[in-house]
Amino acid sequence: MEDPPSTEDPTLDPATHDVDWAMLRARAAEIVERAYAPYSGVRVGAAALCADGSIVTGCNVENASTGIGICAEVNLCGHLVAAGGARPVALAVVAGDHLPIAPCGRCRQFLYEFGGGELLIELDRGVVTLDELLPDAFGPDDLPARRG
Ligand code: THU
Repeated sequence: MEDPPSTEDPTLDPATHDVDWAMLRARAAEIVERAYAPYSGVRVGAAALCADGSIVTGCNVENASTGIGICAEVNLCGHLVAAGGARPVALAVVAGDHLPIAPCGRCRQFLYEFGGGELLIELDRGVVTLDELLPDAFGPDDLPARRG
């Protein structure tokens, strides 16, 4: 798989970047059927293509203690770490209608940890980078220099 494209390209054409977005969206639509969202009624499924060609998925998992639910993308990150996965390079997130839904703020931060700013994300307006959704991000590289 080719390297992720430059983050200077604001809106990236998926056709030129070796990402099968229809397949990725289909995987997100598959996992959304496993979502556990009895409280909000909003089911979410996420699927990421990793640099080694593997796919990781996640769905949201709510709780009777409503403030402690887990978003689909955070669940995906858990699956990624548990599987020893490679860096995510492209992400599709869909709701129960199988259409793209934007990652929330906490999810953007979580995704930054593992995918970095070059991670491609499909929104309803097209494909964007995580750098665009989370500008001036705080991440792992910021920690060493600021200790003490
Ligand atoms: N949700 C996600 O799973 N991912 C997001 O990025 C946005 C929100 C979930 C959380 C909650 O279970 C439901 O959608 C409604 O907010």
